[in-house]
Amino acid sequence: MGEEGLAERALHMLAGGVNSPIRSRMPAGFFAARGEGPYLYDTTGKRYLDYCLGYGPLILGHAHPAVADAICSQAFLGTLFGCTSDREVAYAEEVLRHLPSHLGMVRCVNSGTEATMAAIRLARGITGREDIVAFDGSYHGAHDQLLARRAPGEATSPSSRGVCPATVSTTHLATFNDIEKTADLVRRTRAAAVIAEPVMGNMGCILPEDGFLSELRAVCTEEGALLILDEVITGFRLTPGGAQEHFGVAADIATYGKVAGGGLPIGLVAGSREVMEHLSPTGPVYNAGTFNGNPLSMAAGCAALAELRTHDALARIAAHTKELVSGVSDILPPDAVVCSCPGMFQVYFGTSGVHNAEDARAADGSRYLSFQQALFSEGVFLPPSMHESNFLSAVHDAVDIEQTIAAMERALL
Ligand SMILES: Cc1ncc(COP(=O)(O)O)c(C=O)c1O
Repeated sequence: MGEEGLAERALHMLAGGVNSPIRSRMPAGFFAARGEGPYLYDTTGKRYLDYCLGYGPLILGHAHPAVADAICSQAFLGTLFGCTSDREVAYAEEVLRHLPSHLGMVRCVNSGTEATMAAIRLARGITGREDIVAFDGSYHGAHDQLLARRAPGEATSPSSRGVCPATVSTTHLATFNDIEKTADLVRRTRAAAVIAEPVMGNMGCILPEDGFLSELRAVCTEEGALLILDEVITGFRLTPGGAQEHFGVAADIATYGKVAGGGLPIGLVAGSREVMEHLSPTGPVYNAGTFNGNPLSMAAGCAALAELRTHDALARIAAHTKELVSGVSDILPPDAVVCSCPGMFQVYFGTSGVHNAEDARAADGSRYLSFQQALFSEGVFLPPSMHESNFLSAVHDAVDIEQTIAAMERALL
């Protein structure tokens, strides 16, 4: 039996009973109690095989011993110093062991939101231009500049009350996988930057078509715009060097989060020395934070990234993703597809293919929710929206994959 009155108490004190809106879509009365390996446990003791994994960060599963040890040891040594610690240097070295070599420096912030906000300011500061091209359906965090949606014509309007129309008037939305129209938009707006999720993980799992990212790279170079690849989801997941290594494309500025913090809050801005030295204090583009590079996130992130690197975890995750996706493809009805890349996947119903946000919106969300809910009652936890991605961790094993496919087969009946 779960704790009495939790739902009422949560609703009484937290707006909508939650601290982040997607969580309000969980079944009423569901509260997480603890996690262990690939499993999440609720307050009644029920166990769920977890493919949400905190929306991505938990690539080593819950409470991984190496990460938990690193957090505990650091907690006894201090959690904040107000000056640079040796942990920050060790963390930057670990991060740069993973990233492609064109990225030579990092700035640590506290979330993916802070990272993309800083990246945009950096691009504007370097180019002296104002406009930003993003992709319809992408998500780069909860800051004002990118809370934009399409309005009639080519205009954009705020996607949240409280965001000024003037703020998003310099944000222009292109269509993912449509290079011609994107190039035209970049040219006409004299954009400071194009920001893209290399795999659209906030519309499910939409892959870039062959050549799209390299053509986008070429367009940016030609037009004098900086290419920001937002690897908050794909970083340290698709390969050690993220989507840039996987697809063979080099961003001017890359942003990271999620996996990079080993389950603790983190955001990273990365670029060449030339780009990064525009940031304060070496350059004129302001960025700061009380908790930037905080020792707990450094310790957890360092332990997690070292674990990924030394145990070939990403290769194992990639192999398990293939197995799961192949099993799912065999049981899906003919009008459903599964889209995937290493460590992430999504199933779309009522469609023959998903190439951009419009395709993802046209897929059958209510069939997805029935599927998701049936799985949830079977003890398999997928995020409660087809516009989120499902994630695999290094601790989901072959038996977990088999059981998941069997549960999915029953959920589809
Ligand atoms: C691609 C991408 N960028 C940025 C963010 C924002 O990260 P955070 O929630 O850590 O602020 C997210 C969050 O889901 C994301 O998926």
